[in-house]
Amino acid sequence: MKENIKEILIDAETIQAKVAEIGARLSEDYKDKNPIAICILKGSVIFFADLIREIKVPVEIDFIKASSYGRGTESSGKVEMAGDLSIDVAGRSILLVEDIVDSGNTLKFFTEFFKEKGASEVKICTLLDKPERRVVDLEADYTCFEIPDEFVVGYGLDYAQQYRNMPEIGILKESCYM
Ligand code: PRP
Repeated sequence: MKENIKEILIDAETIQAKVAEIGARLSEDYKDKNPIAICILKGSVIFFADLIREIKVPVEIDFIKASSYGRGTESSGKVEMAGDLSIDVAGRSILLVEDIVDSGNTLKFFTEFFKEKGASEVKICTLLDKPERRVVDLEADYTCFEIPDEFVVGYGLDYAQQYRNMPEIGILKESCYM
């Protein structure tokens, strides 16, 4: 796996320290809210599993998935939810947990979606943010790391469904996808 990695951008220790720090902030901010933390599959799953264990106050969890809309090509930016929502979010505090904010389309869609379903509050916690790539006006409430516009994999992020199980975040060699 490692032979295709050009450079380790964020090592496992640094990730874990930051996740603990953000988890402590969330524990404080959500102490009286009993939020629903929602994992946006699949990329967020590793971050999500680590993050919720750093939240030391009551929290429910759930999982959703966006249908693919052809990111990386010229796309309409249209996002839809894959499947149905099985939980009642009316009046609830929602924390969307994402691995990366790129164009911002996915999180803009889900923020509006949960507000329309009657959530009292919708906030975003992301592992990575690539601000240079943004095409819609969207800012996360909690960001672990801002990164440059490089193709990154690991800690949940994939290339062709591989590398999600790497404990660190690395830049993929261009020869792998060019
Ligand atoms: C990735 C990532 C975000 C989205 C961010 O998902 O997990 O959900 O893209 O991009 P955006 O800000 O441009 O909308 P992907 O479709 O690669 O699915 P995956 O999580 O299953 O890998």
